[in-house]
Amino acid sequence: MDHDVVVIGAGAAGLMCAITAAARGRRVLVLDHANKVGKKILMSGGGRCNFTNTGTTPANYLSANPHFCKSALARYTPADFIALVDAHGIAWHEKELGQLFCNDSSKQIVRMLLDECAAVGADVRTHCTVERIERPDSGGFHLRTTLGSVECASLVIATGGLSIPSMGASGFGYDVARQFGHDVLPQRAGLVPLTLSGKHQQRLQDLSGVSFEVEARCNGARFRNQLLVTHRGISGPAILQISSYWQPGDDLRLDLLPMHDASSWLALQQRERGNAELRTVLSDVLPKRFAQRLCEVWLPSRPMKQYTPAQLKDIASTLADWPLVASGTEGYRTAEVTLGGVDTDGLSSSTMMSKLVPGLFFIGEVVDVTGWLGGYNFQWAWASGRAAGEVA
Ligand code: FDA
Repeated sequence: MDHDVVVIGAGAAGLMCAITAAARGRRVLVLDHANKVGKKILMSGGGRCNFTNTGTTPANYLSANPHFCKSALARYTPADFIALVDAHGIAWHEKELGQLFCNDSSKQIVRMLLDECAAVGADVRTHCTVERIERPDSGGFHLRTTLGSVECASLVIATGGLSIPSMGASGFGYDVARQFGHDVLPQRAGLVPLTLSGKHQQRLQDLSGVSFEVEARCNGARFRNQLLVTHRGISGPAILQISSYWQPGDDLRLDLLPMHDASSWLALQQRERGNAELRTVLSDVLPKRFAQRLCEVWLPSRPMKQYTPAQLKDIASTLADWPLVASGTEGYRTAEVTLGGVDTDGLSSSTMMSKLVPGLFFIGEVVDVTGWLGGYNFQWAWASGRAAGEVA
């Protein structure tokens, strides 16, 4: 088999790259070891795929080089992807904060990508394991695969990160990067529930299922959204977001009353509801069971009128800056993304091509560019796939 471009990984980035390259007249082959393409697209957004975010900016991404993602994101925008989705008649809606979801099913996005591949003649094969990659002196790449030998001029690595190994995730892309002399930055799970242990877990465990709005803060990042107490710790969008900024030992703080200035709100309650106990007052703005627990463990509950100004100040600072000691994360089993990966220093930010090996490209999540929760990771996959497909 002889091709101009071989893309390894038929996920979001790989399929977009294949469509773009084949539309230029390149003979493209996409290889995936899984039994079907786009498994993460299928499971994303609760089955409705949060396929982009209309508010995407480079500030929504974590990377050792925060400038790296700028060029690709500027050249393929959420509006470009929306135009593609519209052209395929896929109905969508905005859920919140610029997050766009299919009205019906993620399957429509995979169908759209495969239809686009078929329209431009990109050949997509599943059940294929790449056993070896060589770079002959004559240039290009020679691949030994379970479907036979493959020669290509350009090789695109789009094998994603380590999250959800049961869905076909592998460290293959990092191995290829190292094989060709690239640095690979340490990986860790991102957008992942945090675990608690010991007394921290015992104090919250039986509140599993309780959910409320917080502002989570860590290492200069802050996210205001829902927190969900789980059997093992905490989750919910605010926690998933902040998890990408947290590492064991880091200080994690929660504002439990993000809709109020805690000091003035408590002073108002004292003036207007002097006979009501703190636990009752807090139950108006927090789930009752959580308010009760706060007052059993962390805050002394008594009628509001009995607190001195200094005591009210202490309560306000606990509510606005609640320290939570997380012990770890749930890891790749449930993480939505992998932080770290192929060091962007070795790649061109406009084409995603290796600076060390001409014709070799890395795109999507395998690269050290990781988005926030909310459609940003797919937008990076589309944009980086497009950038590579324009030149591969
Ligand atoms: P992706 O993982 O999509 O594709 C990689 C492909 O490579 C896979 O098909 C895999 O089988 C293949 N592969 C791996 N190793 C291989 C090997 N050795 N040989 C051959 N093939 C190999 N993002 C977002 O923006 N909105 C959302 O709604 C969600 N929701 C979501 C839910 C869940 C549960 C998860 C786990 C993740 C999300 N994400 C998300 C993140 C998003 O899915 C992710 O960032 C992109 O799919 C990354 O696209 P890639 O194409 O880089 O990798």
